[in-house]
Amino acid sequence: MKPELKQLLLIIDFGSQFTKLIARRIRELNVYCAIHPYHTIDVSFIIKLNPRAIILSGGPATVLNEHSPKIPKEIYDLSIPILGICYGQQLMAYQLGGEVSKGTGNGEFGRSSVTSTAQNSDLVKGWFLEGGEQVWMSHGDTISRLPNNFQIVGISKKAPFAIIANEKKKLYGVQFHPEVNQTHRGTLLLRNFIQISSFARDWNMSSYKDYLIKEINEKVGTEEVICAISGGVDSSVVGVLLNKAIGDRLTCIFVDHGLLREGETNEVLKMFRDNYNIKILYAEEKELFLKALSGITDPEQKRKKIGNLFIKVFEKYAKSIGTVKFLAQGTLYPDVIESASAAGAPSATIKSHHNVGGLPKRMKMSLIEPLRELFKDEVRALGTELGIPRQFIDRHPFPGPGLAIRCPGEVTEEKLKILRKADSIFIDQIRKHGLYDQIWQAFVVLLPVRTVGVMGDDRTYDYSCVLRAVTSKDGMTADFFNFNNNFLGETATRIINEVLGINRVTYDITSKPPGTIEWE
Ligand code: XMP
Repeated sequence: MKPELKQLLLIIDFGSQFTKLIARRIRELNVYCAIHPYHTIDVSFIIKLNPRAIILSGGPATVLNEHSPKIPKEIYDLSIPILGICYGQQLMAYQLGGEVSKGTGNGEFGRSSVTSTAQNSDLVKGWFLEGGEQVWMSHGDTISRLPNNFQIVGISKKAPFAIIANEKKKLYGVQFHPEVNQTHRGTLLLRNFIQISSFARDWNMSSYKDYLIKEINEKVGTEEVICAISGGVDSSVVGVLLNKAIGDRLTCIFVDHGLLREGETNEVLKMFRDNYNIKILYAEEKELFLKALSGITDPEQKRKKIGNLFIKVFEKYAKSIGTVKFLAQGTLYPDVIESASAAGAPSATIKSHHNVGGLPKRMKMSLIEPLRELFKDEVRALGTELGIPRQFIDRHPFPGPGLAIRCPGEVTEEKLKILRKADSIFIDQIRKHGLYDQIWQAFVVLLPVRTVGVMGDDRTYDYSCVLRAVTSKDGMTADFFNFNNNFLGETATRIINEVLGINRVTYDITSKPPGTIEWE
């Protein structure tokens, strides 16, 4: 039987840009939650899922549109506490017989203030301090008549029903977004809702780790599993977790495509071999990849070539193990949500991300994706629970296509050698100055541009390079890191003095958007 995670809070997504943030806030309150898009929801699904509470997210639609996203009305009668946020609040009011009116004027966007109506509600226990509470609004429509048995608990200038409650049925709604930081003390409202729903608040990484190990055991039985490791935190955590669950029925494959950083291969293999008894196949395929990249300058072509070759190599090594039924992957929650977005709008392909997701169907393996419920920092917390050494958990992310996408233009052995050396000096500098943990990612990009310089009394004509260092929470948006000039000067001097082939160093101060973190 599949092990159960006891207490679940279900978030029904109507396409809000903040749905993931709701999930973060709920998990920070030690409650396990899962996001499901509205169109996958029906009553039997909810009964099977058995959530202890439900949150209806915001969304861009208007309930006044006949085809707007809805859920079956019977859900409000399941005796499950429900909190509607923004669109979720309007939908609940509308479906229960209230009225929603088209917004007049400019709606209410940004900071606003909500004041109490003096109507008591468990939702706002301890929330209203003196005067109004600052909240963050983003709505055009407003509720204009409440459904039966609802009370007004809070009002704002443009939302006469900013907080509503049917205390008896434990149905609540807020027009603003308690999940965003701009709503001061919004977490208190969410905590009150969790209290109302009687959650034990016992979700933590240690119990989740035990749950995952049990679940993997149940799923795999006595079969074999393979897993690609890159030395990055996600695949390392998957490898170690599987090792704990099924021991030597796991084989990891480490593909060395010749696009890794200085010392990386040894570091990764040593970490696994020193700390764990895990079978690792080392796939040394540098020549294959570098030959295939010869003459290619287009970034997408590079990515596709590397991705396809990776799959081929992986398949070859997997075959050598015999019959393997399962493939383990480090898919994270943001990837899962994005591919099942309620809005469903296809987003533009900025870059083809490389992973093992494209394995040919003929391999006929079932997927094991133990991290598919977790955010990046939760993966790091799980890695800590598993006792993975800190230097691995806290490593900056490194992209699958490796140094190839940090080498605009053609990738050659000569350029890779120069890039590796410069990159290791930059990282060394960052570590020496105690900055590594303040930075999301730092690396060097070798430009296909030669410039004139003078060293000693001689003219030089060498490559120029770019230092890139950014801060970020999740890699989706990023800012350049603010080094002081002394640091930049010292680093540039070291690179020019120690790396043969570079005579000019620049620093990239582009944020994301409009830039991306990697150059290709
Ligand atoms: P961009 O350049 O799109 O990168 O701003 C965002 C984050 O993703 C990493 N990245 C990748 N990771 N395979 C990966 O596993 C890839 O193909 C890939 N491309 C970019 C990038 O390093 C940054 O952390």
